[in-house]
Amino acid sequence: MNDGDGTLAAGAQGRQFGPLGTALVIIPTYNEAENIKAIVGRVRSAVPEAHVLVADDNSPDGTGKLADELAAEDDHVQVLHRKGKEGLGAAYLAGFRWGMEHGYGVLIEMDADGSHQPEELPRLLTALKGADLVLGSRWVPGGRVVNWPKSREFISRGGSLYSRLALDLPLRDITGGYRAFRRETLQGLGLDEVASQGYCFQVDLARRAVKAGYHVVEVPITFVERELGDSKMSRDILVEALWRVTAWGVGDRVAKLSGRGKSA
Ligand code: GDD
Ligand code: MN
Repeated sequence: MNDGDGTLAAGAQGRQFGPLGTALVIIPTYNEAENIKAIVGRVRSAVPEAHVLVADDNSPDGTGKLADELAAEDDHVQVLHRKGKEGLGAAYLAGFRWGMEHGYGVLIEMDADGSHQPEELPRLLTALKGADLVLGSRWVPGGRVVNWPKSREFISRGGSLYSRLALDLPLRDITGGYRAFRRETLQGLGLDEVASQGYCFQVDLARRAVKAGYHVVEVPITFVERELGDSKMSRDILVEALWRVTAWGVGDRVAKLSGRGKSA
């Protein structure tokens, strides 16, 4: 499962991969007024050929308006205004849909707060040349977190470990949100059936990708905790993740058992 360069891989090996089309970096925002300008600027410098879509849930702090100002100055920047806070999952689904309708070949997930460094994006895109999906990973050799409270690291590592065991996934960072998808991969994940709202959206997509047999590669990243604004992590988000992952795990096991019953 090791590609030999510090990355972990799962899924079909030895395949040919088509060329990458134009990339769209989707940045979901809820109250990121202090961060939006800097992150869009960093993406534009790090990957000038890529386009940016800010998916804002009508942030009370005016993030959407600031994003509109950036879009007015730069034809590589677009804004998707959503009516209210519906969670990270819904914002990404709307962003993916928009990106696919507009013909992008690569869809990227990135947080607005600087935790996902745009300067690492070229490495993710290089890995995507030989993969269906690339996960920026904090928990593979070479990956790390900076300034994260121990409590948050514990929850994140625990969440990945539980998901790995419950869902039998050969991946280390299953909840991370710095990812690059080929459009064909997203088309094969059954996005219309995704109901996950919070951060478990990330587990949901990783699990669907492995199940569908896609070649998933983990690339080490340095995750830097935000300096400005607040995390949207909440008890509800944790509870949703716990019950969904548990339900998927139980469902997988029941399906396996009943499958075995039939063939025996
Ligand atoms: N549109 C929209 N709607 N955006 C949202 C919402 C929402 O309801 N909730 C959060 N976001 C945006 C934030 O504005 C930010 O750009 C990004 O999603 C991530 O939110 P944070 O609040 O900064 O997440 P975090 O730092 O606590 O969590 C990080 O780690 C998680 C666990 O590993 C992120 O990388 C998550 O993606 C990851 O699952
Ligand atoms: Mn964050």
